[in-house]
Amino acid sequence: METIRESVRAKYAETAIKLRDGGSCCDPGCCAGSDALSGPIGQDEYSSADVADLGLSLGASLGCGNPTALAQLHPGEVVLDLGSGAGLDVLLSARRVSPGGHAYGVDMTDEMLALANENKARAGVENATFLKGTIEAFLHALFGAQYPVRFRSSFFPYTEPSVEADLGCVVCGGTGCRVCKGTGWLEILGSGMVHPGVFEAVNKRLGSVVYDPEEVTGFAFGLGIERVAMMRHGVDDIRLFYGNDLRFLEQFNK
Ligand SMILES: C[S@@+](CC[C@H](N)C(=O)[O-])C[C@H]1O[C@@H](n2cnc3c(N)ncnc32)[C@H](O)[C@@H]1O
Ligand SMILES: [Zn+2]
Repeated sequence: METIRESVRAKYAETAIKLRDGGSCCDPGCCAGSDALSGPIGQDEYSSADVADLGLSLGASLGCGNPTALAQLHPGEVVLDLGSGAGLDVLLSARRVSPGGHAYGVDMTDEMLALANENKARAGVENATFLKGTIEAFLHALFGAQYPVRFRSSFFPYTEPSVEADLGCVVCGGTGCRVCKGTGWLEILGSGMVHPGVFEAVNKRLGSVVYDPEEVTGFAFGLGIERVAMMRHGVDDIRLFYGNDLRFLEQFNK
């Protein structure tokens, strides 16, 4: 898994450098010649006027399709692009959700993030933010980069939009066991963009506008400590933490 990740990262880093030096994403070795370039959501669907309006060219896209052609985006909405590359989709989305909305792009490749930020500055778009995959980086630091991470849309009362993150099962390595209920995945944390109502509640409590929800935004994530301990130490029954059996507890007293 780590080898695949690293080869994906290295390939995109190389492509980002090539794009930065004026090359095209569709050089041989990228998605050139792929049928995915045309068709209902192919690159043909990017409006050249929209792209030119951002001061960019189609070279700023590493995508083989245009998701913004299908998404029903409206002013005020929040957009998240997982794997945002050089940022074209994020910047187009940012325009479409303006005013009041924001577009976030997440990428794991530093060179891509640097290029996306350059494109953002060139396009003069302010309501877009490019981030490194913080949650994935955090989970990999905690458990090891050999475990895959996946995200599922979810609902939590204090974030909107919200996503749940799962980690490949550390007990069975993804083949399926009692702990992961045969799925190969373990639900590990909840996360999302902080709901503006949370900032309003903080302001109310503090008696002044400390965090103006029109100006301030943020993301949050949290996880249960028992779950982390189970996964780090291969404990397969959460009830062991509450049983007060010294034979179990003393294992961690080192
Ligand atoms: C085809 S490009 C995306 C194109 C982009 N949507 C656009 O507007 O041009 C795919 C991107 O996904 C990123 N990527 C691949 N695996 C990733 C991962 N596990 N986490 C974060 N980014 C990832 C790569 O670095 C690459 O920049
Ligand atoms: Zn398992």
